[in-house]
Amino acid sequence: MTRNGAAKSAGLLDIESLDRTEIEAILERAHYFQPMESGPFRRQDTLKGKMIVNLFFEASTRTRVSFEIAAKRLGADTVSIAAQQSSVSKGESLVDTLNTLVAMRPNAIVMRHAASGAPRFLARYLPIPIINAGDGTHEHPTQALLDARTILDQRPTLEGLRVAIIGDIAHSRVARSNVHLLSKFGAEIVLCGPPSLLPREFEHLARGVRLTYEMTEAIRKADVIMMLRVQLERQHEAPIPAGEYFAFYGLRLEHLELAKPDVIVMHPGPINRGRELSSEVADSQRSVILNQVENGIAVRMAVLERILAPETMETAA
Ligand code: CP
Repeated sequence: MTRNGAAKSAGLLDIESLDRTEIEAILERAHYFQPMESGPFRRQDTLKGKMIVNLFFEASTRTRVSFEIAAKRLGADTVSIAAQQSSVSKGESLVDTLNTLVAMRPNAIVMRHAASGAPRFLARYLPIPIINAGDGTHEHPTQALLDARTILDQRPTLEGLRVAIIGDIAHSRVARSNVHLLSKFGAEIVLCGPPSLLPREFEHLARGVRLTYEMTEAIRKADVIMMLRVQLERQHEAPIPAGEYFAFYGLRLEHLELAKPDVIVMHPGPINRGRELSSEVADSQRSVILNQVENGIAVRMAVLERILAPETMETAA
């Protein structure tokens, strides 16, 4: 059960309402699904006969493809729909579209939508699990889970880690989900960005959060640096020009000197070289950006299994 009382089969809507033990179980199971060295991902038929619909109303490469691969690795069938190809483009409402899909009896719907709260709203009315693949500026739960898995591949625990999250905090569902997750595990979280993209209320989002507008202060002694994309599509004001943004909030090699010697650099992607970080940093030994992408599959396998075949996970524990 989640903290808000929803059954596991209700899907995955956010990190905020998950218990720490449930997060630990998903991360542990994802570890089991991780491939050995450069070997293939495990194949199982745990979800054989299940049908998963991936419904994306916003662009996606990593999340959509990795959910699809994860489902197939577990033996499920999948259908992926982009909004432009759906009848939403002909004026059908979101509820009517979802009811239409549910009438075809899929076992779960993975959904990305530009409106914060859309998956939770639909989950209240639909009889099948909804998995949030990113909703507006609210949450991106599987991203935070794969980020945690990636950190734990490099560090024994999240407890006491200093994690700097830098960039467009205001519009970032990745930042929100990571703050909730890291806070539950006792990490120290420093949020950093230009004042226009770093609302003061983030200080009260969860325990252990601190705000700064100074990049060097955020990075000092950091174990993890998490860079964020500037979400121009969600900004209503004139954006900070790329060069100016990079000068103040772009991560460059010299910044890494301020952090712990074994600091890791993360980014949920898609990355914008020369705006959020330099190519030297993105391609450096400290970057685990592609590890995050790879872990997306193992984590989403664990999430799908937990929702659609929880008895398998419990037997394995
Ligand atoms: N990190 C992430 O959500 O990437 P996509 O938009 O490509 O899915």
